Amino acid sequence: MNNLFEIDPNKCKHDGICVAACPSKLITLNEEDKLPIPIDRAEKQCFNCGHCVAVCPYGAFTLNTMDPEECAPVNKKLLPTADQAKLFLTARRSIRTYKTQPVDRATLSEIIDTARYAPTGHNLQPVNWLVIEDAGEISRLAGLVIDWMRYMIKEQPDIAKSMHLKRFVADWDNGDDKICRGAPHVIVAHAPKAIASAQSACTIALTYLELAAFSKGLGACWAGYFGAAASHYPPMAEALNLPDGHQCFGAMMVGYPQYRYHRIPLRKKAAITWR
Ligand SMILES: Cc1cc2nc3c(=O)[nH]c(=O)nc-3n(C[C@H](O)[C@H](O)[C@H](O)COP(=O)(O)O)c2cc1C
Repeated sequence: MNNLFEIDPNKCKHDGICVAACPSKLITLNEEDKLPIPIDRAEKQCFNCGHCVAVCPYGAFTLNTMDPEECAPVNKKLLPTADQAKLFLTARRSIRTYKTQPVDRATLSEIIDTARYAPTGHNLQPVNWLVIEDAGEISRLAGLVIDWMRYMIKEQPDIAKSMHLKRFVADWDNGDDKICRGAPHVIVAHAPKAIASAQSACTIALTYLELAAFSKGLGACWAGYFGAAASHYPPMAEALNLPDGHQCFGAMMVGYPQYRYHRIPLRKKAAITWR
């Protein structure tokens, strides 16, 4: 017994798999009984990734924060084949035409639940979610993105030109929202800006979110301009009212797609250098 993990001696087969799998090499086998024990000061270095619990075939390993009984078993029969996975990843599309019908909270919660399994640097799991459900609020925020674009066109014309901002403003003025595109929901990923890997964590989590949305018959699309305004335009950041020290690191439109896609469009050939 130690303050990091507990081993069930009746289940442990002394195979050392947990020792090999620990990314920080915090586990060793006891000389006498060959049961896993933590190295000195292991609890200070453990970042709770749970690989020790997840890799043990016998459920013998319990981290003090993670009981194997609480960790869902991997049902290999449900895993997609390589062909199915490739089709899934290539058939997803950025959806820009939505039904007005809202998505219920249970379904939105499910896709966010999947997104929390996205990898994060040092397993920090810094991503927080803001779900904007109200169409009026989405329109108000899109209007603030347009205000930011107008500001950029005036003050930073070169950047504005490279981002084609005049076109978005003209469309908005003609009653066409190219910022949130009529999506009934916008989901914002935010995290403490002091965390160096926060941007990557949110980007990867949003990528998972988009795929999870597709798997549930929903449509999603990166709201790139929304995210840019949220991190560069103080009135937009103020309107989002995120917790102190947090920054928006990306946003996604979500809703039911109006149309289905029947073919996979062509993409550039992979540019690979082999060494
Ligand atoms: C970081 C990022 C920002 C994006 N921002 C927007 C956006 O603001 N509005 C939009 O309609 N699409 C946006 N997109 C979607 C891209 O245009 C889209 O991924 C690309 O055209 C390829 O189409 P596909 O996703 O259907 O394969 C963004 C994509 C990424 C990765």
